[in-house]
Amino acid sequence: MKANPKLIIAFISVWSPSFANAGDGVLDLTQLANYANQAVPSYITKNNTTAGNPITDKGATLGRVLFHDKRLSRDNTISCSSCHDQSRAFGDSPTASTGVNGTTGRHAMRLINAPFANEVRFFWDERATTLENQTTQPVRDHVEMGFSGTSGDPAFADLVAKLTAIPEYRVMFAMTFGNATVNETRIQRSLAQFVRSIQSFDSKYDTGRAAAGNDGANFLNFTAAENAGKQLFLAPPPQGGAGCAGCHRPPEFDIDPASLNNGVTGKIGGGTDLTNTRSPSLRDLIGPVGRSNGGLMHDASFATLAQVINHYNQIPAINANLDNRLRRLNGQVQNLNLTQAQKDALAAFLATLSGNAVYTDAKWSDPFNDLGELTLIVLPADQVSITDQGDGTAIISCQAAAGMNYLLQQSDDLKTWTNVTTVIANAGGVCSYSVGFSGSAAYYRYAFETPAP
Ligand code: HEC
Ligand code: HEC
Repeated sequence: MKANPKLIIAFISVWSPSFANAGDGVLDLTQLANYANQAVPSYITKNNTTAGNPITDKGATLGRVLFHDKRLSRDNTISCSSCHDQSRAFGDSPTASTGVNGTTGRHAMRLINAPFANEVRFFWDERATTLENQTTQPVRDHVEMGFSGTSGDPAFADLVAKLTAIPEYRVMFAMTFGNATVNETRIQRSLAQFVRSIQSFDSKYDTGRAAAGNDGANFLNFTAAENAGKQLFLAPPPQGGAGCAGCHRPPEFDIDPASLNNGVTGKIGGGTDLTNTRSPSLRDLIGPVGRSNGGLMHDASFATLAQVINHYNQIPAINANLDNRLRRLNGQVQNLNLTQAQKDALAAFLATLSGNAVYTDAKWSDPFNDLGELTLIVLPADQVSITDQGDGTAIISCQAAAGMNYLLQQSDDLKTWTNVTTVIANAGGVCSYSVGFSGSAAYYRYAFETPAP
């Protein structure tokens, strides 16, 4: 391919850069990570995605950066990922999570398979009407990220001004939305796309479910106890089951939107809270090799699956908002009278619902370096074009943020890149530069280098 000047075209996908680099501050978006077209098992049918905001690779990439950026908090100490830790299925280990002004009133939820549910509302008490609506509530919360506009906090508009002043965000908003404007709607759309992209379908359960074709059949990859636990999960109490599937419905293990509370009525720090009627998916309750992803329930009152099962085995007390499925006809609470072997089987089944890749996949990881910076953002291939002028020169153009400086870089081997020149994007957001062929093939890319502070 050397010696053919026509092959000056860069950005062909002949090499595989790491799609999403973790932690080095370089965001090479030449080939965007796949968020939009991830494989979802055919048996997964529930989807609560808000109309008009489907996942795009660019939107979720911007969402990834926002999610891991501590600058979304008033004092630059807390990011979404401070409370939603990838290594814990985006949950948190402490009972209450630490924000900029104290600790949260409820336990941080895992953020796994958020779209694969019929319930469209979010938070334990379902106060967010959509995921988009949810995403800026922590930012606007006095305790969590501190842009509340009350109690001496800056307002959300101050965050918009703060992000607008960060050149990397002008670059990334232009990449995602066509121009560099930062506003709450765009922040919500990209954060929601990122959260929605976090999916986990590589569990032992999924292997068995795909092969068996339905939940009721014996799964050949399951132990006898796991199969017995599955039957207990599925069957309602009058048929000798534990009735879990009545609210946490497989194969998504989402929550029935009509569920009331489940008899867990405590409150972190004391008191009673009857408002919690949502559960995240029961997938990834525990991590690979059984490690805890954090306490369970809105008050993290249970540390283990065994404690959860004991709770449902004997619901402690009637409360005004207790779901009817957990009451007996005579006005008593549910008492399943499970044997120890049955309890162990149910716990063994719940443990089959944990995946693997979600805990480590770089596309959901923190892209910032140790100093909390992005140093270089390489533009996606679809924003760059090369036009052969037929006279030994070619124009290399990019779609970028108006008025900003981009680096045109060149490489012979796709490994070492050298700067050709700095190009300023015109008022229409286009940068363009003419290069001469030297007779050997070369590759070009446009990148944005963060100016030194
Ligand atoms: C200080 C800790 C903290 C920070 C920071 C934080 N969260 Fe949360 N998150 C929580 C807690 C606690 C809950 C549960 C709160 C409740 O239900 O009242 C939660 C719930 C959620 C939910 C609801 C999940 C569900 O299944 O209903 C989503 C989504 C979410 N957070 C996303 C985010 C995003 C996006 C950010 C950053 C903009 C963020 N969180 C920042 C602690 C935090
Ligand atoms: C009536 C509906 C209902 C039934 C039946 C039900 N649950 Fe729940 N479940 C809920 C609700 C609502 C929550 C969230 C409650 C809270 O945190 O206060 C929840 C929470 C959970 C959680 C904690 C999830 C987390 O992310 O912390 C687990 C685990 C769980 N349920 C397992 C089970 C099992 C196992 C069964 C069967 C023995 C079962 N559930 C039966 C409604 C139900």
